Amino acid sequence: MQNNSSSNWWKHGVVYHIYPQSFKDSNHDGIGDIPGIITQLDYIADLGVDAIWLSPIYPSPMVDAGYDIANHRGIDAQYGTMNDFQRLLNEAHRRGLRVIMDLVLNHTSDQHPWFIASKSSVNNPKRDWYIWQPPKKGKQPNNWITNFGKKAWRYDPNTKEYYFHSFFWEQPDLNWRNPEVKKAMFDIIHFWLEAGVDGFRLDIINLLFKDRQFKNNKIGFFVKKPEIYNRNQPEVYPLLKEFRTLLDSYPEKTSVGEIYTPPPGRTTLAVSFLGNGVDMLHLVFDFSLIFTIWNAAAYYKTINRYYRKLPEMGWPCFFLSNHDIGRSIKRLGRWTWHKYAKAKLHAVLLLTLKGTPFIYYGDEIGMENIKIPKKYIQDLYGKIFYPFFRGRDRARTPMQWNSGRYAGFSTQRPWLPVSKDYSTINVEAEQKDYASILNLYKRLLLLRKKHTALHKGNITFLTKGKNNLLIYTRTDEQEKIFILLNFSNRKKKAQIGAIGSAAVVLLSTHHRIKLSEEGVIMLQAFEGLVIKTTLLQ
Ligand code: GLC
Repeated sequence: MQNNSSSNWWKHGVVYHIYPQSFKDSNHDGIGDIPGIITQLDYIADLGVDAIWLSPIYPSPMVDAGYDIANHRGIDAQYGTMNDFQRLLNEAHRRGLRVIMDLVLNHTSDQHPWFIASKSSVNNPKRDWYIWQPPKKGKQPNNWITNFGKKAWRYDPNTKEYYFHSFFWEQPDLNWRNPEVKKAMFDIIHFWLEAGVDGFRLDIINLLFKDRQFKNNKIGFFVKKPEIYNRNQPEVYPLLKEFRTLLDSYPEKTSVGEIYTPPPGRTTLAVSFLGNGVDMLHLVFDFSLIFTIWNAAAYYKTINRYYRKLPEMGWPCFFLSNHDIGRSIKRLGRWTWHKYAKAKLHAVLLLTLKGTPFIYYGDEIGMENIKIPKKYIQDLYGKIFYPFFRGRDRARTPMQWNSGRYAGFSTQRPWLPVSKDYSTINVEAEQKDYASILNLYKRLLLLRKKHTALHKGNITFLTKGKNNLLIYTRTDEQEKIFILLNFSNRKKKAQIGAIGSAAVVLLSTHHRIKLSEEGVIMLQAFEGLVIKTTLLQ
């Protein structure tokens, strides 16, 4: 049996998250596809990342943008064929890029043959593959609700029972208490590992098991507590150990879990899926940073809590944006006219913290959330909740490659409108501008590669964010690197002690030439600064 502990690329590398619908269209239908991604692999490799994660590309009726899978062993025709996918794997690997697939274990599409069989009769062998319950006093089996607050049971008049769905009713939840479900899913994981994928992002992994007795969730006087019995059950942990064993039977595979749950206890729950750090998932997404206000002390608290809660052998990971919660540039506080300066500071943070960074496509050029006009809304959440919530399309818009028609994404009208800022916010323009966000990302990614302290080193915080300044060091046997982040819109004086004459500026988000030897540094508003000092000892 091979073990994947030798390379640990997933600890030290950077992952680029691609939303396949929106990356690059090659067949002129306005929808991104796999051959389109292949044409952009040079761009991705040139950015300096180490892996790509693709949101689901399996055959799907697309009720939830592919998170409703109808066949786990294929590729949706809108994205291409299995051959295209094999070509993507080969072309990515040839450039030193790994490929991570999305794995949705909690539910399938209602169009999946498993569910069609399950629904056909109470005696069907697949009946128990999903969560069916008889009505209780003529009503829903219990008070569980979906992730967006609606009733989570759907009645099937044919078999006169209800089935459970954590998301849309077109996404029935699987019954993980049935060993056949596990066997079928593990076979699928095996199938993709054999095909050569390098790892998986596990969708809402904390939802897999539900209370065996289907107990009602407690409804408080003021607040509903919807999350007690329909998620976070202990049976998921031994399952993940088996999953890890399967992954470790192949060299150099990885996994990252999405654990989405409202506060409190978010971080504690998230890191619990790492087990002892080497026996469950490799990485977990903790959403806490996403909900942290723009303030150095608040950031320190959130980041430090994640570090403190990690199991001893666990490894952190960070992200700022994704296809559900939107783009970080929109969360950057009051001074929106400083948004690009703040986005750059954010990039310095993401790429210099200890932990694996995940970059959401388009963040590297400063793409924004856009307000989608009603008639173009695609996300079912947006259709259901409009005008209170326009859904998640805002951060799923086409990648902006150049200032040409449809931002170079497609020759046809794209499935979602292109952001209006594309004539300036696009790859081609930013490649030519040294001061662009894109070039900052590239410089940071190159620095991370060059300096082992930045991807392997320890982290020590020199401030807790007081005065809106966050200062930390990354250290290994070779060097000590200081990172200074000014979250404030004013100049700030930072004191880091004598740094010696050999100290050099590795990178600044601003124009900076020199440092004072005494270690007193005047930081510009929203400046991010990376300094290297001489050998330790
Ligand atoms: C995850 C996905 C999201 C999807 C949901 C249901 O949260 O990121 O896009 O709607 O799971 O699969």
